[in-house]
Amino acid sequence: MNKVYLEEVDSTNLYAKQNIADFQDGTIIHALSQTSGRGRFERKWIDFGKGNLFLTFVLKPSSDFKSLYSNLTQYLSVKLCKLLENEGLTPQIKWPNDVLINGKKIAGILSETVMSGSALKGIVLGIGVNLSASEDQVSAIKERKVTALNLELNKTPDLELFRDNLCFEFFKDYNNFLSKGFIFIKDDYISRACFLNKKVCVKVFNKEVSGEAVDVTDNGELVLLSNGEKSVLTIGDIL
Ligand code: BTN
Repeated sequence: MNKVYLEEVDSTNLYAKQNIADFQDGTIIHALSQTSGRGRFERKWIDFGKGNLFLTFVLKPSSDFKSLYSNLTQYLSVKLCKLLENEGLTPQIKWPNDVLINGKKIAGILSETVMSGSALKGIVLGIGVNLSASEDQVSAIKERKVTALNLELNKTPDLELFRDNLCFEFFKDYNNFLSKGFIFIKDDYISRACFLNKKVCVKVFNKEVSGEAVDVTDNGELVLLSNGEKSVLTIGDIL
């Protein structure tokens, strides 16, 4: 694993995309601070200051990536859950890849591809984990409930140790995941899912779809039941 450590950057994902040719498969980009962190659906990812994790994995899989691309974020969410469970917490996953503790978001995951025509140059898989924030900082986020690991544990976690453990967990099963796909993590994912058998509203770009979340397919898609009909969602965000 190659490592790039930065003091400050606009966004580790953007930096990885802009310099993708320079990085080998499996490189990690870690920045101590981000001035313009990017979230899903053009949202921002707030930097709560020193001690929080901003990390991007640069991945250059040679196999057919298309079927696995969206599942990579789910794979990383399961790995993060395992790390948080080692701290004695009970994290849950909100489809597709939000990790929550006591219903509050502690991490965000964003994957992006870099293409050259129809050829894949690489995937950048970014994760931000709130490791250190104040009650005031998290409650200032009005769009959703947010937490940080220090608030859940009543102690400030070691940033470098957390990063190294996450990278270790990620690469430990990465090749197995690449060859087997979502099915490899399906049980682990479902056992942590907080949305199943509940009424949900899913935002798909600027449309909202409501229904009961009844299943997750073998490809990681969400199955919604509304008005007696099942629909399968591949992208979206449970509100
Ligand atoms: C989301 O929940 O909307 C995804 C947030 C992803 C944030 C991480 S922080 C490291 C990496 N660099 C970015 O600019 N974004 C991701």
